[in-house]
Amino acid sequence: RAAMPKPPEVIGTLEDARAAVQHCTRCGLCRHATQAVFGEGPADARLMVVGEQPGDQEDLQGRPFVGPAGKVLDEAMQAAGLDRNGAWMTNAVKHFKFTPRGKRRIHQSPDKGEVAACKWWLDLERNFVRPQLTLGLGATAALALTGNGAGITKRRGTVEETATGPVLLSWHPSYILRIPDAGRAAEARAELAEDLSLARRLLA
Ligand code: URA
Repeated sequence: RAAMPKPPEVIGTLEDARAAVQHCTRCGLCRHATQAVFGEGPADARLMVVGEQPGDQEDLQGRPFVGPAGKVLDEAMQAAGLDRNGAWMTNAVKHFKFTPRGKRRIHQSPDKGEVAACKWWLDLERNFVRPQLTLGLGATAALALTGNGAGITKRRGTVEETATGPVLLSWHPSYILRIPDAGRAAEARAELAEDLSLARRLLA
């Protein structure tokens, strides 16, 4: 792994947090990932978008949502008139969890303990950014944001109130990419776009 600069002693800003998270050992995922992927965007963003964890590309590039799932999300955000660059984009878990298979690294969902350990960072981001609305993508983000780990089939498209503000839930774009049935996948994409349009209206 790349040598990281010394962590700041006090985390007073999001940039301090970005440096400090590279030294995080709150769970075991730091051992195999290339780097931690912290959130990015304006510190005063009105919208926060929370995914599950970095994927293969995000792990290599050090930025959230830059791989195939990011492309699905970007398209849906654009269709809904939401500016990705105006939002704080992040993940519930900051390190990539995977199992090697040949040359490929296969995504593994983080477990409850890893989500709980990493919530420290998500809460910190939420405290600094204080978004008006948070979009939680998939069950892992939903668990980290609301404390409720139930699946989101019945929860998507709805807003759940939390101590840190309203959370709108939707499908995770990686989940959409894994739907084998083309018709159902198109439907899920449309639902994601619909939920993002609701986010836009809620922010208006
Ligand atoms: N999936 C996520 O949940 N987050 C990313 O940043 C990329 C893929």
